[in-house]
Amino acid sequence: MIDKINALEEKAAVLSPDKETRQALRAKAIDLAEEFLEDLPHSKIYNLDETGKKLYDTPLVEPDSWDNMLDVIKNEIDLPGINAASGRHLGYIPGGGLYASSLGDYLAAVYNKYAGVYFAAPGAVRMENQLINWMGELIGYKEGFAGNLTSGGSIANLTAIVAARDAFNIKGRDVEKTVIYASEQMHHCVNKAIRIAGMNEAIIRYLPLDEKHRIVASTLEEHVANDREQNLRPWMVIASAGTTDTGAIDPLEEIGVIARRNNLWFHVDAAYGGFFMLCDEFKDKLKGLEMTDSLVMDPHKGLFLPYGIGTVLVKDGQKLYEAHSQHANYMQDTIRATDEISPADLSPELSKHFRGLRMWIPIKLYGLEPFKACLEEKIWLTRYFYEQLGQLPGFELGPYPDLTVMYFRYLPKFGDANEFNEQLARSIQEDGRTFLSTTVLGDTFVIRLAVLSFRSHLREIDLTLEIIKEKLEELEGKSNR
Ligand SMILES: Cc1ncc(COP(=O)(O)O)c(C=O)c1O
Repeated sequence: MIDKINALEEKAAVLSPDKETRQALRAKAIDLAEEFLEDLPHSKIYNLDETGKKLYDTPLVEPDSWDNMLDVIKNEIDLPGINAASGRHLGYIPGGGLYASSLGDYLAAVYNKYAGVYFAAPGAVRMENQLINWMGELIGYKEGFAGNLTSGGSIANLTAIVAARDAFNIKGRDVEKTVIYASEQMHHCVNKAIRIAGMNEAIIRYLPLDEKHRIVASTLEEHVANDREQNLRPWMVIASAGTTDTGAIDPLEEIGVIARRNNLWFHVDAAYGGFFMLCDEFKDKLKGLEMTDSLVMDPHKGLFLPYGIGTVLVKDGQKLYEAHSQHANYMQDTIRATDEISPADLSPELSKHFRGLRMWIPIKLYGLEPFKACLEEKIWLTRYFYEQLGQLPGFELGPYPDLTVMYFRYLPKFGDANEFNEQLARSIQEDGRTFLSTTVLGDTFVIRLAVLSFRSHLREIDLTLEIIKEKLEELEGKSNR
């Protein structure tokens, strides 16, 4: 038996490379990362021609050389699709990718801390809780709140909805009579979360929106009263601090007051807009976040971290705990250590990535000032783009931006405006030097600009304006021919 064990150990030894091997692997991986970062200002933001198909050319389980594998990563992973690390990514809600965070991920993977449970990783759990506390205080929560670093905004919204469901003791038989008040502009991940949380049969009342796509809060109270009269169960109102399509901030304070008076759970999806609380100008504009019962804010959006980190905060932390904590016999040792709440008791996850480190490192390394400046710069870049585009003839602009998303369309002299703008957007995307995405508002096709990459600066916005003009001329030239 001993011989067999020794032979197996030897066979598996490659899984624990020695120092020299580690160094060789690391050096080449870092070279590739450096090449990527150095090329970033010039590389294509959108690559239609590459699709990563050659990935299938070599069988997955057949070992290959590190050099070949890095080539595969470069050509089949990096090149195809949207280059989300680029400052010319001005579509959807751009993510970040701070370099300092990548080192956090590296160290987190090397240490492999069991970061979901305080007993196993007290320092890691403290670090994540410290980050949660900082975010809770930033939005104005007082004592007693709790939160969790999730994989992103979708899971953060789901976690909040599950907490809200259990806080109101909603059982299966109650779902059909339960009412949610929301905006048509609510992110679709919240609809998905409602469905996954077993609330699909709940009634969703979409509140009217004003000309800036914000909820008209005055109608909420009347809806709640009518619903109560009909023996329905008003449950939660969901607002957004920064909608994805149009960047609107709902009237949070007004909704918060009505929610409180009517005993509704008040949830705000601030996945995109939450970190603008760091900017003085937005402390007022985001007033009402402190009134929420639950809130989502995504460090992989507003704090420029790489994808894979969102945050859910719940004002009454006990509610988050009650909705997610679960005991198991084999985990009994962990109960002894109770200095800090464990992430595993506040989320669906048990074993989890130690996400806190990728967030803690840049905050500690740089302090908050560069983050504030970067967010403010994005605000002014959006306003600049809005003003510059407004000076070009033929463009119709959406409302003046609340945050860093705005939309527009070109009104062609002839033909269908929707078709024309679809072509315009496609030609900008196919060009590959800048990336704008599109949406539909009612029946109107519009092109969006979303400025949130920490690498987006004046030159990227000016280039985008140039490309829009260039593509417009080309299209108009074609249609006049
Ligand atoms: C307002 C808003 N909420 C939620 C989400 C979903 O977040 P994630 O993609 O991190 O799951 C997004 C994504 O863009 C968003 O913009």
